[in-house]
Amino acid sequence: SVLAGYNGTIFAYGQTGSGKTFTITGGAERYSDRGIIPRTLSYIFEELQKDSSKIYTTHISYLEIYNECGYDLLDPRHEASSLEDLPKVTILEDPDQNIHLKNLSRHQATTEEEALNLLFLGDTNRMIAETPMNQASTRSHCIFTIHLSSKEPGSATVRHAKLHLVDLAGSERVAKTGVGGQLLTEAKYINLSLHYLEQVIIALSEKHRSHIPYRNSMMTSVLRDSLGGNCMTTMIATLSLEKRNIDESISTCRFAQRVALIKNEAVLNEEIDPRLMIARLQKEVQELRDELALVTGEPRTEALTEAELL
Ligand SMILES: Nc1ncnc2c1ncn2[C@@H]1O[C@H](COP(=O)(O)OP(=O)(O)O)[C@@H](O)[C@H]1O
Ligand SMILES: [Mg+2]
Repeated sequence: SVLAGYNGTIFAYGQTGSGKTFTITGGAERYSDRGIIPRTLSYIFEELQKDSSKIYTTHISYLEIYNECGYDLLDPRHEASSLEDLPKVTILEDPDQNIHLKNLSRHQATTEEEALNLLFLGDTNRMIAETPMNQASTRSHCIFTIHLSSKEPGSATVRHAKLHLVDLAGSERVAKTGVGGQLLTEAKYINLSLHYLEQVIIALSEKHRSHIPYRNSMMTSVLRDSLGGNCMTTMIATLSLEKRNIDESISTCRFAQRVALIKNEAVLNEEIDPRLMIARLQKEVQELRDELALVTGEPRTEALTEAELL
C-alpha cells in the first residue's frame, strides 16, 4: 500500500526485553534474524525495480525521542558520545495542523544497500549514545521512516507516502522494589509519553470523543496520523515468556485490545506538483500558438517570454 501512495505504520509495543528491537530491527548475528526494517527495505527496492512505469524517490529519516526531546540518528559526523551530542529535532505545527519536524535530516537512498547503510548509521548512533547510566533504549522511542514519492513520466501528479517503523520505549510502568524484605509495588510511570500514548488510544477507542490529546507528547504528535488518522497502522505486541512478567503481559494484551478497536482511514496521498503542471501548460500554450500561426497564416508570435516561462 505504501508503494501505491498510502501511509503506513508498524509499531512494536511491549515491556523491555520482550523483543521489540529484535522484531523491528532484528538480531545482529544471523541473516535470518533480520527484522522488519531490513525486510521492508528489501521488499520496497525489489518492487521499485520491477515497476518501470513510475519514477520513484526514496528518502530515509531516523528519529529518537528521549525525555520529550527529538534527536536525529542520521547525523553523519560520528562525533556523538551521548544522545545530547546529536542534532536536536523539534516539532513545528503549521496553520493546517500538519506536523513538521525541524532539523530531522532526510537522506535519499537509491538502492537497498544505501538504505541499509543509513539504518546501520542510525543504529550505531543509537548504541553510542547509550551508556549504562542512561538506558536510552528502554526509555526512548525510535522511529525509522521511509518516505516514498512516485509519479508517472510526464504527469504532474505526485504521490507521497511514508512508512514509520517504530520501536517504542519499554511499556513497563511498575517499579518492583524490595523494601524491608517486602515487595512493594510502586505504580510509577517510567515513561510519561507512553502514558500519553495510552490516553490517545483510550480517547480514540471511545466513540464520540472530539478531542484527542495528541499534543501532550512529542511521540503522539509525530505519530498523530498513525493513530486514528490517515494511515494504515499495525501494532505488534511483544510478550515476555517468563511467568513473573505475567502482569505486564496482560497489560500489553489489554492495550493491544484497545488499539484494535481504532478505525483509521487511509487516503491516497496524491497532489499536483504546481511546477510540473505549469511546465505542461506552457508547452501546451506554445503548441497551440504554433498551430494558430499555421492556420491563420500570420507570422508566428515569438516564443513565450522569459516571464511567462518562469
Ligand atoms: N523472537 C526472538 N527470537 C530469538 N531471540 C529473541 C526474540 N525476541 C527477542 N529475542 C532476544 O531477547 C533479547 C531481548 O530482546 P529485545 O528485542 O532487545 O527486547 P526489547 O527491545 O523489547 O527490550 C535480545 O537478546 C533478543 O535477541
Ligand atoms: Mg529494545
